[in-house]
Amino acid sequence: MGKIYNSITELVGHTPIVEFKRLEEKLGLKGRIAGKLEYFNPAGSHKDRMALEIIEAAERRGEISPDKTTLVEFTSGNTGIAMAAFAAAKGYRFKIGLQNGVSVERLKLLEAYQAEIANVPDELIAGVFEKGIAAFADVLDYMSKDVDHPFATRQLDNKDNINAHYKHTGPEIWEDTDGKIDIFVGGVGTGGSTHGVSKFLKEKNPAIKVVITQPDPKDVENPIVKGVEDGGFHGIHQVHTDEGLTPMAPTNFSDELTDEYNFITYAETLRAIHLLAKYEGIFVGASAGASLAVAIKLAQKEENKGKLIVPLLPDNGERYLSEDLQKIRPEVEESVGF
Ligand SMILES: Cc1ncc(COP(=O)(O)O)c(C=O)c1O
Repeated sequence: MGKIYNSITELVGHTPIVEFKRLEEKLGLKGRIAGKLEYFNPAGSHKDRMALEIIEAAERRGEISPDKTTLVEFTSGNTGIAMAAFAAAKGYRFKIGLQNGVSVERLKLLEAYQAEIANVPDELIAGVFEKGIAAFADVLDYMSKDVDHPFATRQLDNKDNINAHYKHTGPEIWEDTDGKIDIFVGGVGTGGSTHGVSKFLKEKNPAIKVVITQPDPKDVENPIVKGVEDGGFHGIHQVHTDEGLTPMAPTNFSDELTDEYNFITYAETLRAIHLLAKYEGIFVGASAGASLAVAIKLAQKEENKGKLIVPLLPDNGERYLSEDLQKIRPEVEESVGF
């Protein structure tokens, strides 16, 4: 039977989960690792889910329509690309403010989808880095000022970001693993994916452990990381210290649903990326590499013998070709314990 879709909006989600059997064998892992490959989404990342849900939930509430609304967001990441693609597919104008240091691939993709790039004053952008997440609201207000019917998509506190993952990503993981998942691993940018997935999985089985991947703060000075967009980890931040939540913890993140925070270095991230490419033929971005590295370290532990660990792998390494993620640097990776 034939099947022709009507729009890319029908292609979001149902991404595959693949067990990395050759990787498990080569590393002699005790636990099993099955990654959820979010780059199978039509605009290339898990952010497609959020962009579509935010737009369609606002449509259902009668708040927006393509004939009058301009969508507004401040981001340098996959959110911009996802929003731009679905704005185009649904006929919305989309105005995007960019954080500093946007990679050339991202800029070109935004150009391809014909997003409008807003001029945001440097001092407002600087505020985001000084004050943390709270300053994003000032930027969105500024960007909405001269727009007729602006709708700020507010990925950091819009609950439809969490809903996208509660309604879809979590149930997909549960169903595709036949409810056998033991540990979920994810990183936090807006917190929407880990919050939504964890909420769903823990409602199904409270014993499922949720582990959050955090960039090792020592690595901020790492010469490879420096100068790379987002400090090299592509949209995931340190949201928790021993003292509690950091200013980078967004409203949409849930500390209550988190069982463990795990630090990962950039060297471990690169090593995980290279192992996955070499043994599984899958080339992922740095946030995916970081969560995979956490999954590998968990799978090395005796206590996790036979357990099924599912890291969320947000996007593909092709999105960052200008950063040379694929480059093997023996001097960097020899310190890594896997
Ligand atoms: C590549 C990548 N990984 C991870 C994240 C974090 O995901 P979330 O915003 O759902 O916390 C983002 C975005 O912020 C991202 O673009």
